[in-house]
Amino acid sequence: MAMVTTSLSLLFLSLLTPFLAHPTPLQPSPYLSPPTVLFPDYHKMTTHFKIYTYDPPKSFHFTTPSETQFHNSLLNSQFLTRNPNEAHLFFVPFPHDFSTRQLSRFIRDLRQNFPYWNRTLGADHFFVSRAGIAYAPDRNVLELKKNAVQISSFPTTSGNFIPHKDITLPPLHPNPSPLVLPHAPANKTTSFLGFMKLDVKSQSQSQSDKSLVQEMEADPEFAFASEPLDLGESRFCLFLYGGDLTWVGEAMRVGCVPVVITDRPIQDLPLIDVVRWSEIAVFVGPRDGVGELKRVLSGIGDERYERIRGLGVAAAQHFVWKATPQPYDAFYMVMYQLWLRRHAIRYARREWV
Ligand SMILES: *[C@@H]1O[C@H](CO)[C@@H](O)[C@H](O)[C@H]1NC(C)=O
Ligand SMILES: *[C@@H]1O[C@H](CO)[C@@H](O)[C@H](O)[C@H]1NC(C)=O
Repeated sequence: MAMVTTSLSLLFLSLLTPFLAHPTPLQPSPYLSPPTVLFPDYHKMTTHFKIYTYDPPKSFHFTTPSETQFHNSLLNSQFLTRNPNEAHLFFVPFPHDFSTRQLSRFIRDLRQNFPYWNRTLGADHFFVSRAGIAYAPDRNVLELKKNAVQISSFPTTSGNFIPHKDITLPPLHPNPSPLVLPHAPANKTTSFLGFMKLDVKSQSQSQSDKSLVQEMEADPEFAFASEPLDLGESRFCLFLYGGDLTWVGEAMRVGCVPVVITDRPIQDLPLIDVVRWSEIAVFVGPRDGVGELKRVLSGIGDERYERIRGLGVAAAQHFVWKATPQPYDAFYMVMYQLWLRRHAIRYARREWV
């Protein structure tokens, strides 16, 4: 146990001073890439990455908290350039209620007025759309859908997300709970096996989700409340995929291991190509009821539990949005995911004239 704790604090140190520590690949890590690759590449992004933004078709505002925060942060960041020739990626801003026709016209204008769309057919372009865009027979919209990187809210609308290309924004909790300690003590006495926030608008949930929730409500080992008060009291924090996931980062931060209840593999998790979700959260299906859920959660031994919890605490900083972006926060990690997608194939312009 002492060994695990030591390596975790080492890991945490290495997050703060990435260039001083050289963790071996065998050390537990919340990241998909070895830290010796990830952090230098992230650093390169902060100094080199350039984005050119087109003028929006009309003046408008993004409407969800995470979209608004992302957009404001981008506009005030060092990433914007006025010189499209040095840009790695091009930002296509349009309002969420644009019709397919309006969107098509906007892309057509970009295609005709700038040389950049034709070079890659949109593959070095990105856009923000909270619900994502659907397939459309229109050529302009289809190229935007198939080639450009879509940034949308999590969880995404079914059918509107293309894995490995598209990105979701870490949810932004409108007012993160100040009532909990930043790091719950490792020896906390857990009063509850699992905590779930009561979700008032839960009509989107499946029948198996609903019956599982009913079973849990009747079980004293699970706690339900409309506002998470002291997450540190609970060993696990339960989320229904498709329900309210706005405080999953907050749960991690305070050391309440997130449990995501889902009946299918999730491909649209935020930061999915940066963090190793299987190391910072537990995924269970709703179908086999509360007995199976308890069996899975109780079967997680102390050593594994502490490892998941520690890696979650270390990864939590990447899910936090700040009014003024801070290194490694949600804004920078979304930018990093864009940076990973900057190598688009550029078609020769001649082919298209
Ligand atoms: C891009 O290609 C289309 C044909 O697909 C053409 O109509 C348009 O003028 C081209 N844009 C530029 C800037 O050359
Ligand atoms: C457990 O935590 C309490 C504070 O909640 C602290 O006073 C106590 O020393 C801790 N025990 C151990 C063994 O770390």
